[in-house]
Amino acid sequence: MNSKIRICYKKDFPKNGRLIHKVNDLVILILKKRSKFFAFENKCPHVGAPMTNSILTPNSVICDWHGWEFSLPNGECLNLEEEPCSLNIFPVYLNEKDELILEIEKVK
Ligand code: FES
Repeated sequence: MNSKIRICYKKDFPKNGRLIHKVNDLVILILKKRSKFFAFENKCPHVGAPMTNSILTPNSVICDWHGWEFSLPNGECLNLEEEPCSLNIFPVYLNEKDELILEIEKVK
């Protein structure tokens, strides 16, 4: 069963469009581009770099360390066909009160 975590009101989301949220040992990066939100583990599957300064494109996010690119919203790596890997993605959305809600499978 998924846990629903209230992050903040939409109006309180940082103006730079990036927010880190920790759930015990899990560090999640939430990005906002235009009116869309994306949430994924702040750890690149390549060598584990933080994705904090990653680059958002209209349909993907690119790790700024070595340029690996991941599809949004499913997290699939787009530039490594022989070694499939993916970014750990989490559902994130606004509820009827304009609160940003993050869903994760379980909280350790
Ligand atoms: S650590 Fe992200 S591409 Fe290498």
